[in-house]
Amino acid sequence: MIETAHIKFARCGLDVKIWPLAKIVSPEVISIGNSVIIDDFVFLMGGERTIIGSFVHIASFTSITGCGELIIDDYSGLSSGVRVFTGNDDYSGQWMAHPTIPGTYRKPLRSYVHIEKHVIIGANTVILPGVTIGEGVAVGANSLIKKDCEPWTVYFGTPARPVKVRPREKILELESKLRAEHYDGKGNYISKAQLAAMKERKR
Ligand SMILES: CC(C)(COP(=O)(O)OP(=O)(O)OC[C@H]1O[C@@H](n2cnc3c(N)ncnc32)[C@H](O)[C@@H]1OP(=O)(O)O)[C@@H](O)C(=O)NCCC(=O)NCCS
Repeated sequence: MIETAHIKFARCGLDVKIWPLAKIVSPEVISIGNSVIIDDFVFLMGGERTIIGSFVHIASFTSITGCGELIIDDYSGLSSGVRVFTGNDDYSGQWMAHPTIPGTYRKPLRSYVHIEKHVIIGANTVILPGVTIGEGVAVGANSLIKKDCEPWTVYFGTPARPVKVRPREKILELESKLRAEHYDGKGNYISKAQLAAMKERKR
């Protein structure tokens, strides 16, 4: 794993594992919480700003591009091969497109993607710019997300449609148990090493 201390992130918490073949562009605009894993072959461009919460996993072959803003809240994960676009070229026919074209002939859109807490995005899903994926959403494999997703709902398809409710109570109950174990009374994250030492002392 990469020793994250050598990467100049805007902020990087504890227990962050970045596999050596992950490619991180513009780390100075990227903030990362605690207990995060970024797998090999992830391509992460910081864009305008990227904020990754705690207990977040970004699986192999996922790419995050588009030069806009990305926020991924706590306990959320992107499965393998997810494509997150925080910006886009203009497809209308009024402008030329892609980065080889001089700026006066194209009109790239810089936007955002916000993935709220407890979201799981299925493999190979494409997320287009300008969307908020609500808390607790699950997105099936191979989906296309073009619009906001309502909280605690399962979506799939191209374009993705809501298919059923994802019950929130159990996940929120698990979150509160996890927080009781992994955060102190003041809401500070307890690292894995600290937790192991605490358990050792209790033995
Ligand atoms: C969306 C998902 C969670 C639904 O699971 P489920 O509730 O068990 O749904 P079912 O398997 O019973 O499927 C119900 C129907 O939806 C269809 N369906 C399920 N997932 C679909 C998807 N991703 N895209 C299109 N259709 C899908 C099924 O074919 C089935 O259709 P039918 O009734 O006509 O036969 C699951 O299919 C999925 O895509 N999971 C993501 C898995 C993944 O990406 N894992 C990566 C590692 S974490």
